[in-house]
Amino acid sequence: MEIVLSGIRSTGHLHLGNYFGALRNYIKMQDEYNCYFFIADLHSLTTHPHPDDFHSGVKTILAEYLASGLDPEKSAIFIQSDVPEIVELYVLLNMIAYKGELERTASFKEKVRKNPDNVNAGLLTYPVLMAADILVHRAHKVPVGKDQEQHLEIARLLARRFNNLYGVEVFPEPQAFNFGSDLIKVPGLDGSGKMGKSEGNGIYLYDDEKTIHKKVMKAVTDAGPTAPDSKMPEPVENLFTLLKIVSDKETVDHFTKAYNSCTIRYGDLKKQLAADICKHTLPIRERIDDISNDSDYLAKVVRKGREKARASASATLAEVKRAVGFRSF
Ligand code: TRP
Repeated sequence: MEIVLSGIRSTGHLHLGNYFGALRNYIKMQDEYNCYFFIADLHSLTTHPHPDDFHSGVKTILAEYLASGLDPEKSAIFIQSDVPEIVELYVLLNMIAYKGELERTASFKEKVRKNPDNVNAGLLTYPVLMAADILVHRAHKVPVGKDQEQHLEIARLLARRFNNLYGVEVFPEPQAFNFGSDLIKVPGLDGSGKMGKSEGNGIYLYDDEKTIHKKVMKAVTDAGPTAPDSKMPEPVENLFTLLKIVSDKETVDHFTKAYNSCTIRYGDLKKQLAADICKHTLPIRERIDDISNDSDYLAKVVRKGREKARASASATLAEVKRAVGFRSF
C-alpha cells in the first residue's frame, strides 16, 4: 500500500477551509493508503513560542484532528518530537543540503524579509527538517498546498542526492498528492481569496455560535444586484460558494433566485449561512471539548501513534546509517 504523509504546524486552530478542504480527503484516504498524520511541533519552534503555549498548541491541533474524524485505529497520528529518528535523519541530511540552495527558498526569503531579527539556522534548514519528516517514512505521496511545493522539491532533491552519493535506493522520491477536483476551495469572508489562518478571514471549528454569526454578518458584500441575472461580484459569489458547501439545495436555489430577481437581502442570506455553518461545526466543537478533557484518551492516541511512527522510522534509519558507513563495534 502506498504511504501518504501529511504534517501540520502546531499553531492556531483548524478552520472551515481545512475541514471542508484537505481534511475531507484525509478522512477518505485513511481507507485507501497507509497514512501518517503528524503535528510538526519542532518546526513551530522557529518562532520561539512561549513554553506554555507550545504544548497547548500541539494539544489543540491533536484534539481538532481527532474531532474531525482522523482515526488512530486506521492511521498513524503522532507528534514530530516523539520520533527522535526524524532529528537523527535531519542531522544526516543537513550534511548534503547546501547553504546556497536553502537561502534561495522562497519561504526563507519571505521570512527574512518579514522578521529580519530572527533569521535563525532552524529557519534556514526548515526544508531539511521537513524532508526528514517525509523521507523517514519513505512516503510516496504528500498532500501539500502551493506554498509547500518548493519544500517538497527539496525533499526530492535530497532523496536523489542521498541515493546517488551512497549508491543506494533507500528513498523513493515523494510526489505531491493532488486532490484535483476533489479539493473544495473554501473562500474567506473578506471578499477575495481562500480562507486561511494567516489571512484572518476564517471561521474556526472551535468558534462558538455567537462568534460565527458575528463573523458572517460582517462578511464583505456589495450594494446588491441592479439588473436581473447579472454576474455576481467575487465577494457575493464567495458567500454563495460557502452556502453551497454547508446548506441544502433548496436553500441555495432560494437565494440564487432572489439574487437573480434582485430581491435578495444579504442579511437574510448571512443569517441562513451562519446557522448552517453552526449545524456543521457546533457538534465538532463539542467533540473537541470532550477529547481535550480526556487526558487518558489523548495519551493513548499519542502513544499508539508514536509506536507506529517509530517502527517505520527506525527501519529507515537502520538502512540510512548502514549506507552512510556507521558500523557497530
Ligand atoms: N511546512 C508545513 C507547513 O507549514 C508543515 C510540515 C512540516 C509538513 N513537515 C511536513 C507538511 C512534512 C508535509 C510534510 O504547512
